[in-house]
Amino acid sequence: MNPSWMPMAASSTSDWRRLNQANWDERTAVHLGPRGYDLSSHRSGRGELDAIVEAEIGDVSGLAILHLQCHLGDDSVALAQRGARRVVGVDFSPPALDAARNLSAECGLNNTRFVLSDVLCTPAALPEDAGAFDLVFTSWGTICWLPDLDAWAEVIGYALRPGGALYFADMHPVARVFDDEGIRAAGFPGWRFPYFEHGPWHFDDAADYMDAEARLANSRTVEFQHTLSSILAALRRAGLRLDWLREHPGLVWKPFAGCVRDAQGLWTWPDRPWLPLSLSLRALKP
Ligand SMILES: C[S@@+](CC[C@H](N)C(=O)[O-])C[C@H]1O[C@@H](n2cnc3c(N)ncnc32)[C@H](O)[C@@H]1O
Repeated sequence: MNPSWMPMAASSTSDWRRLNQANWDERTAVHLGPRGYDLSSHRSGRGELDAIVEAEIGDVSGLAILHLQCHLGDDSVALAQRGARRVVGVDFSPPALDAARNLSAECGLNNTRFVLSDVLCTPAALPEDAGAFDLVFTSWGTICWLPDLDAWAEVIGYALRPGGALYFADMHPVARVFDDEGIRAAGFPGWRFPYFEHGPWHFDDAADYMDAEARLANSRTVEFQHTLSSILAALRRAGLRLDWLREHPGLVWKPFAGCVRDAQGLWTWPDRPWLPLSLSLRALKP
Protein backbone atom coordinates (compact mmCIF):
# COMPACT_ATOMS: atom_id res chain seq x y z
CA MET A 1 0.00 0.00 0.00
CA ASN A 2 1.22 3.47 -0.85
CA PRO A 3 2.24 5.10 2.51
CA SER A 4 0.44 8.34 1.63
CA TRP A 5 -2.83 6.40 1.75
CA MET A 6 -2.71 5.53 5.43
CA PRO A 7 -5.62 6.79 7.58
CA MET A 8 -5.15 10.33 8.88
CA ALA A 9 -4.41 10.97 12.51
CA ALA A 10 -7.56 12.01 14.36
CA SER A 11 -6.16 15.53 14.86
CA SER A 12 -6.12 16.09 11.10
CA THR A 13 -9.69 15.00 10.55
CA SER A 14 -11.04 18.55 10.73
CA ASP A 15 -8.94 19.34 7.66
CA TRP A 16 -11.10 17.26 5.33
CA ARG A 17 -13.24 20.15 4.13
CA ARG A 18 -10.38 22.62 3.61
CA LEU A 19 -8.14 20.13 1.81
CA ASN A 20 -10.90 18.80 -0.41
CA GLN A 21 -12.20 22.23 -1.34
CA ALA A 22 -8.72 23.44 -2.33
CA ASN A 23 -8.32 20.32 -4.45
CA TRP A 24 -11.70 20.78 -6.17
CA ASP A 25 -11.17 24.51 -6.70
CA GLU A 26 -7.96 23.71 -8.55
CA ARG A 27 -9.47 20.82 -10.49
CA THR A 28 -12.19 23.09 -11.82
CA ALA A 29 -9.69 24.99 -13.99
CA VAL A 30 -8.33 21.69 -15.28
CA HIS A 31 -11.83 20.44 -16.07
CA LEU A 32 -12.58 23.61 -18.03
CA GLY A 33 -9.35 23.19 -20.02
CA PRO A 34 -8.71 21.43 -23.32
CA ARG A 35 -8.57 17.94 -21.80
CA GLY A 36 -11.44 18.58 -19.40
CA TYR A 37 -15.18 18.01 -19.62
CA ASP A 38 -16.72 18.03 -23.08
CA LEU A 39 -19.56 20.54 -22.82
CA SER A 40 -20.20 20.82 -26.55
CA SER A 41 -23.46 18.88 -26.40
CA HIS A 42 -24.74 21.27 -23.73
CA ARG A 43 -23.83 24.24 -25.87
CA SER A 44 -25.66 22.59 -28.75
CA GLY A 45 -28.85 22.44 -26.68
CA ARG A 46 -29.03 18.95 -25.17
CA GLY A 47 -26.24 18.01 -22.81
CA GLU A 48 -25.25 14.36 -22.87
CA LEU A 49 -25.75 12.27 -19.76
CA ASP A 50 -23.71 9.10 -19.20
CA ALA A 51 -25.26 5.84 -20.34
CA ILE A 52 -26.35 4.70 -16.86
CA VAL A 53 -28.06 7.94 -15.88
CA GLU A 54 -29.55 8.33 -19.34
CA ALA A 55 -31.13 4.88 -19.13
CA GLU A 56 -32.44 5.30 -15.59
CA ILE A 57 -33.35 8.90 -14.92
CA GLY A 58 -36.67 8.82 -16.75
CA ASP A 59 -38.74 11.81 -17.70
CA VAL A 60 -37.69 14.91 -15.76
CA SER A 61 -39.91 17.38 -17.54
CA GLY A 62 -41.72 19.69 -15.16
CA LEU A 63 -39.69 18.55 -12.13
CA ALA A 64 -38.01 20.72 -9.53
CA ILE A 65 -34.56 19.14 -9.11
CA LEU A 66 -31.90 19.61 -6.46
CA HIS A 67 -28.49 18.56 -7.80
CA LEU A 68 -26.09 17.90 -4.92
CA GLN A 69 -22.35 18.35 -5.59
CA CYS A 70 -23.09 19.70 -9.05
CA HIS A 71 -19.45 20.52 -9.96
CA LEU A 72 -19.39 22.35 -13.35
CA GLY A 73 -23.18 22.14 -13.59
CA ASP A 74 -23.03 19.96 -16.69
CA ASP A 75 -25.62 17.50 -15.43
CA SER A 76 -27.68 20.34 -13.92
CA VAL A 77 -27.82 21.98 -17.33
CA ALA A 78 -28.52 18.67 -19.08
CA LEU A 79 -31.49 18.09 -16.75
CA ALA A 80 -32.78 21.61 -17.35
CA GLN A 81 -32.41 21.03 -21.09
CA ARG A 82 -34.57 17.90 -20.70
CA GLY A 83 -37.42 20.05 -19.47
CA ALA A 84 -36.97 20.26 -15.69
CA ARG A 85 -38.98 23.17 -14.33
CA ARG A 86 -36.25 24.29 -11.95
CA VAL A 87 -32.75 22.99 -11.19
CA VAL A 88 -30.78 24.06 -8.12
CA GLY A 89 -27.14 22.94 -7.97
CA VAL A 90 -25.21 22.92 -4.69
CA ASP A 91 -21.44 22.67 -4.38
CA PHE A 92 -18.77 24.05 -2.03
CA SER A 93 -16.37 25.12 -4.77
CA PRO A 94 -16.75 28.79 -5.85
CA PRO A 95 -14.96 28.33 -9.22
CA ALA A 96 -17.11 25.29 -10.00
CA LEU A 97 -20.24 27.32 -9.36
CA ASP A 98 -18.94 30.21 -11.50
CA ALA A 99 -18.42 27.67 -14.28
CA ALA A 100 -21.91 26.26 -13.76
CA ARG A 101 -23.49 29.72 -13.91
CA ASN A 102 -21.52 30.57 -17.04
CA LEU A 103 -22.51 27.30 -18.74
CA SER A 104 -26.14 27.80 -17.85
CA ALA A 105 -26.09 31.38 -19.17
CA GLU A 106 -24.33 30.28 -22.36
CA CYS A 107 -27.07 27.70 -22.85
CA GLY A 108 -29.72 30.39 -22.42
CA LEU A 109 -31.32 28.82 -19.33
CA ASN A 110 -33.19 30.94 -16.81
CA ASN A 111 -34.44 28.16 -14.52
CA THR A 112 -31.16 27.14 -12.91
CA ARG A 113 -29.62 28.42 -9.70
CA PHE A 114 -26.25 27.50 -8.23
CA VAL A 115 -25.76 27.77 -4.48
CA LEU A 116 -22.46 27.76 -2.61
CA SER A 117 -22.60 25.46 0.38
CA ASP A 118 -21.12 22.43 1.98
CA VAL A 119 -23.59 19.82 0.86
CA LEU A 120 -24.19 18.80 4.47
CA CYS A 121 -25.31 22.39 5.22
CA THR A 122 -27.78 22.60 2.32
CA PRO A 123 -30.85 23.25 4.55
CA ALA A 124 -29.18 26.40 5.92
CA ALA A 125 -28.31 27.50 2.37
CA LEU A 126 -31.85 26.81 1.09
CA PRO A 127 -34.03 27.71 4.10
CA GLU A 128 -37.09 28.31 1.92
CA ASP A 129 -36.84 24.99 0.13
CA ALA A 130 -37.87 22.37 2.67
CA GLY A 131 -39.93 19.83 0.75
CA ALA A 132 -39.61 21.89 -2.42
CA PHE A 133 -38.05 19.32 -4.75
CA ASP A 134 -39.51 16.44 -6.76
CA LEU A 135 -36.09 14.91 -7.38
CA VAL A 136 -32.72 15.02 -5.65
CA PHE A 137 -30.00 14.04 -8.12
CA THR A 138 -26.43 13.19 -7.18
CA SER A 139 -23.95 11.18 -9.19
CA TRP A 140 -20.39 9.98 -9.70
CA GLY A 141 -17.88 10.87 -7.04
CA THR A 142 -20.01 12.43 -4.33
CA ILE A 143 -20.41 10.60 -1.02
CA CYS A 144 -16.73 9.59 -0.87
CA TRP A 145 -16.06 13.23 0.13
CA LEU A 146 -18.54 13.18 3.01
CA PRO A 147 -17.77 11.91 6.50
CA ASP A 148 -21.38 11.59 7.63
CA LEU A 149 -23.97 9.77 5.54
CA ASP A 150 -26.73 10.33 8.09
CA ALA A 151 -26.31 14.07 7.62
CA TRP A 152 -26.30 13.57 3.83
CA ALA A 153 -29.50 11.52 3.91
CA GLU A 154 -31.15 14.10 6.16
CA VAL A 155 -30.39 16.78 3.55
CA ILE A 156 -32.19 14.64 0.98
CA GLY A 157 -35.12 14.09 3.32
CA TYR A 158 -35.26 17.85 3.97
CA ALA A 159 -35.32 18.76 0.30
CA LEU A 160 -37.81 16.23 -1.08
CA ARG A 161 -41.55 16.69 -1.07
CA PRO A 162 -43.59 13.67 0.03
CA GLY A 163 -43.62 11.35 -2.98
CA GLY A 164 -40.36 12.83 -4.27
CA ALA A 165 -37.36 10.68 -5.21
CA LEU A 166 -33.61 10.49 -4.80
CA TYR A 167 -31.58 9.31 -7.80
CA PHE A 168 -28.05 8.30 -6.84
CA ALA A 169 -25.30 6.75 -8.97
CA ASP A 170 -21.70 6.25 -7.99
CA MET A 171 -18.70 3.97 -8.02
CA HIS A 172 -19.59 0.75 -6.22
CA PRO A 173 -18.12 0.69 -2.69
CA VAL A 174 -16.65 -2.74 -3.39
CA ALA A 175 -14.77 -1.42 -6.43
CA ARG A 176 -13.38 1.43 -4.32
CA VAL A 177 -11.43 -1.12 -2.30
CA PHE A 178 -9.09 -1.75 -5.23
CA ASP A 179 -6.53 0.40 -6.98
CA ASP A 180 -3.85 0.10 -9.61
CA GLU A 181 -1.18 0.61 -6.94
CA GLY A 182 0.10 -2.87 -6.28
CA ILE A 183 -1.11 -4.24 -9.60
CA ARG A 184 -0.59 -7.98 -9.56
CA ALA A 185 -1.16 -9.35 -13.02
CA ALA A 186 -2.57 -8.46 -16.40
CA GLY A 187 -3.85 -5.04 -15.36
CA PHE A 188 -5.88 -6.32 -12.40
CA PRO A 189 -5.85 -4.07 -9.33
CA GLY A 190 -4.39 -4.48 -5.86
CA TRP A 191 -5.93 -3.36 -2.57
CA ARG A 192 -6.67 0.30 -1.89
CA PHE A 193 -8.30 0.15 1.54
CA PRO A 194 -10.44 -2.35 3.46
CA TYR A 195 -14.10 -2.31 2.53
CA PHE A 196 -15.26 -1.96 6.14
CA GLU A 197 -12.87 0.83 7.23
CA HIS A 198 -14.67 4.17 7.03
CA GLY A 199 -11.51 6.28 7.18
CA PRO A 200 -10.82 9.18 6.91
CA TRP A 201 -8.51 8.08 4.09
CA HIS A 202 -5.81 10.52 3.20
CA PHE A 203 -4.51 10.72 -0.36
CA ASP A 204 -1.72 12.75 -1.86
CA ASP A 205 -2.16 12.51 -5.61
CA ALA A 206 -1.36 15.34 -8.02
CA ALA A 207 -3.09 13.60 -10.94
CA ASP A 208 -6.50 14.50 -12.30
CA TYR A 209 -9.02 11.98 -13.57
CA MET A 210 -9.78 13.98 -16.72
CA ASP A 211 -6.42 15.41 -17.71
CA ALA A 212 -3.48 13.02 -17.64
CA GLU A 213 -1.07 15.94 -18.01
CA ALA A 214 -2.41 17.99 -15.09
CA ARG A 215 -0.39 18.22 -11.87
CA LEU A 216 -2.37 19.64 -8.96
CA ALA A 217 -0.61 21.75 -6.34
CA ASN A 218 -3.47 21.08 -3.93
CA SER A 219 -2.92 17.37 -4.15
CA ARG A 220 -4.03 16.29 -0.67
CA THR A 221 -7.57 14.98 -0.25
CA VAL A 222 -9.56 13.18 2.41
CA GLU A 223 -12.07 10.52 1.45
CA PHE A 224 -14.45 8.26 3.30
CA GLN A 225 -15.58 4.73 2.57
CA HIS A 226 -19.30 4.00 2.80
CA THR A 227 -20.41 0.39 2.49
CA LEU A 228 -23.49 -0.54 0.54
CA SER A 229 -25.37 -1.34 3.74
CA SER A 230 -24.36 1.98 5.33
CA ILE A 231 -25.72 3.90 2.33
CA LEU A 232 -29.03 2.07 2.55
CA ALA A 233 -29.22 2.37 6.33
CA ALA A 234 -28.61 6.15 6.24
CA LEU A 235 -31.38 6.59 3.67
CA ARG A 236 -33.75 4.44 5.74
CA ARG A 237 -32.96 6.39 8.93
CA ALA A 238 -33.79 9.61 7.07
CA GLY A 239 -37.22 8.18 6.25
CA LEU A 240 -36.57 7.23 2.61
CA ARG A 241 -37.76 3.94 1.15
CA LEU A 242 -35.67 2.08 -1.42
CA ASP A 243 -37.49 1.77 -4.74
CA TRP A 244 -34.74 -0.07 -6.62
CA LEU A 245 -30.98 -0.60 -6.57
CA ARG A 246 -28.81 -1.80 -9.45
CA GLU A 247 -25.21 -2.93 -9.62
CA HIS A 248 -23.34 -2.41 -12.89
CA PRO A 249 -20.14 -3.91 -14.33
CA GLY A 250 -19.34 -0.49 -15.90
CA LEU A 251 -18.32 2.95 -14.62
CA VAL A 252 -18.15 6.42 -16.16
CA TRP A 253 -14.41 6.78 -15.54
CA LYS A 254 -11.58 4.29 -15.99
CA PRO A 255 -11.11 2.73 -12.55
CA PHE A 256 -8.27 0.32 -13.34
CA ALA A 257 -5.62 0.20 -16.03
CA GLY A 258 -6.97 -3.06 -17.40
CA CYS A 259 -10.50 -1.76 -17.99
CA VAL A 260 -11.80 -1.18 -21.51
CA ARG A 261 -14.59 0.94 -22.94
CA ASP A 262 -17.84 -0.76 -23.83
CA ALA A 263 -20.24 0.13 -26.62
CA GLN A 264 -22.08 2.57 -24.32
CA GLY A 265 -18.90 4.46 -23.44
CA LEU A 266 -18.66 2.95 -19.94
CA TRP A 267 -15.40 1.49 -18.60
CA THR A 268 -15.66 -2.18 -17.79
CA TRP A 269 -13.67 -5.38 -17.25
CA PRO A 270 -11.74 -6.65 -20.29
CA ASP A 271 -13.04 -10.21 -20.13
CA ARG A 272 -15.64 -11.10 -17.49
CA PRO A 273 -17.71 -9.00 -15.04
CA TRP A 274 -15.56 -9.76 -11.98
CA LEU A 275 -16.99 -7.20 -9.60
CA PRO A 276 -19.61 -4.44 -9.73
CA LEU A 277 -17.95 -1.15 -10.69
CA SER A 278 -20.92 1.11 -10.02
CA LEU A 279 -24.30 1.19 -8.38
CA SER A 280 -27.39 3.27 -8.82
CA LEU A 281 -30.55 3.53 -6.80
CA ARG A 282 -33.82 5.30 -6.48
CA ALA A 283 -35.31 5.97 -3.06
CA LEU A 284 -38.64 7.59 -2.31
CA LYS A 285 -39.81 9.92 0.42
CA PRO A 286 -43.19 8.49 1.51
C1 LIG B 1 -16.68 14.32 -8.90
S1 LIG B 1 -17.53 15.84 -8.68
C2 LIG B 1 -19.23 15.46 -8.69
C3 LIG B 1 -19.67 14.71 -9.77
C4 LIG B 1 -20.27 15.36 -10.97
N1 LIG B 1 -21.34 14.54 -11.40
C5 LIG B 1 -19.25 15.44 -12.05
O1 LIG B 1 -18.72 14.41 -12.48
O2 LIG B 1 -18.99 16.52 -12.52
C6 LIG B 1 -17.40 16.12 -6.95
C7 LIG B 1 -17.95 17.49 -6.54
O3 LIG B 1 -18.23 17.42 -5.15
C8 LIG B 1 -17.94 18.69 -4.61
N2 LIG B 1 -17.79 18.50 -3.17
C9 LIG B 1 -16.92 17.69 -2.50
N3 LIG B 1 -17.15 17.76 -1.18
C10 LIG B 1 -18.19 18.61 -1.00
C11 LIG B 1 -18.89 19.08 0.13
N4 LIG B 1 -18.57 18.70 1.37
N5 LIG B 1 -19.91 19.95 -0.07
C12 LIG B 1 -20.24 20.37 -1.32
N6 LIG B 1 -19.60 19.97 -2.43
C13 LIG B 1 -18.60 19.09 -2.27
C14 LIG B 1 -16.68 19.14 -5.33
O4 LIG B 1 -16.50 20.53 -5.28
C15 LIG B 1 -16.98 18.63 -6.75
O5 LIG B 1 -17.56 19.64 -7.51
